[in-house]
Amino acid sequence: MIRAAITGVSAYTPEKILTNADFEKIVDTTDEWIMSRVGIKERRVLDKGLGTSTMAAEAVKSVLEKTNTKPEEVEVIIFATTTPDYIFPSTAAMTAEACGIKNALGFDIQAACSGFLYALETGSNFVKSGQYKKVLVVAGDKMTSITNYKDRTTCPLFGDGVGAVMLEPTEEEYGVMDSILHVDGVGIPHLHMHGGGSVHPASHETVDNDMHYVYQEGQVVFKHAVSKMADVSVEIMERNNLTKDDVNWLVPHQANIRIIEAVGNRMGLSADKVMINIQKYGNTSAGTIPICLAEWESQLKKGDNIILTAFGAGFTWGSLYLKWAYNK
Ligand code: UT7
Repeated sequence: MIRAAITGVSAYTPEKILTNADFEKIVDTTDEWIMSRVGIKERRVLDKGLGTSTMAAEAVKSVLEKTNTKPEEVEVIIFATTTPDYIFPSTAAMTAEACGIKNALGFDIQAACSGFLYALETGSNFVKSGQYKKVLVVAGDKMTSITNYKDRTTCPLFGDGVGAVMLEPTEEEYGVMDSILHVDGVGIPHLHMHGGGSVHPASHETVDNDMHYVYQEGQVVFKHAVSKMADVSVEIMERNNLTKDDVNWLVPHQANIRIIEAVGNRMGLSADKVMINIQKYGNTSAGTIPICLAEWESQLKKGDNIILTAFGAGFTWGSLYLKWAYNK
């Protein structure tokens, strides 16, 4: 049986930092509130005039180098993002062009904060088909481009960043082992951006009504996120006969430290097994999981059992069980 193994991972986050002290000057908030309610200390900001593919190009070039892959050898590039450079062409096309990738098929996936899981499962199936041997999965967002800096309930939450992994076939017991993904439109009223699409194309009215920004009802989303991420992570452990001792790492979407801790506790995991970097980057939407994997890459060992889990707009959510395929 062919499986898709991650053979390299890299991430890029911009240098410019927005701290909680900066937010204290912009809106009615405090470092104490943001740290205790969300767990974010600072986040990265990409310059105006640059798009998500600018960050992706850095991450992809690094993954190509790590995996000794020439751009022309890449066969598929899948890009999960909510903040594409443009409505069209795809951010996959923009990234391919920036990296000299000329022999691949490429497309974008929209699954909000769950985008990396959706793209990884899709990429894994390209590899499992036996037809593709070099599949790039890229995920991330320039969330600051859709953040309303007058709304204190959302503006401290988000940051910019992108991660990328290379998938290659293996006949050994490594790689993407299992996944459970969901979509349920019950979340549509609670988390969305209504401006700029085909229902409400950009107009003076959409701009005046703040419709090009993230709208979120935090408490509703919080409750769903905790229960759905915890349920699906326990389900994937049980389905694969994994006890809490078998799981080496949990890589949760980084939206709120309290959500992350609640999910880890439900799975029975000690805190040292849970990847957390929300304090440095905030919520980079589809970027959070691959950015964690890149940061922890040197600590990951061949054979490690890793559970990835995410929750986002739609609602979309899910868990993916990964067996790490290499030592760095
Ligand atoms: O990534 C996609 C999925 N998204 C998520 O998973 C996010 C889920 N939601 C959350 O993480 C949390 O709901 C938030 C971080 C967004 C908000 O935290 P909360 O503990 O749910 O706060 P709340 O909305 O219940 O607000 C509590 C209070 C309110 O004041 P009153 O009504 O009690 O007087 C808010 O107005 O905190 C106030 N508040 C703030 N105060 C200081 C809201 N934002 C701020 C702020 N600074 N930035």
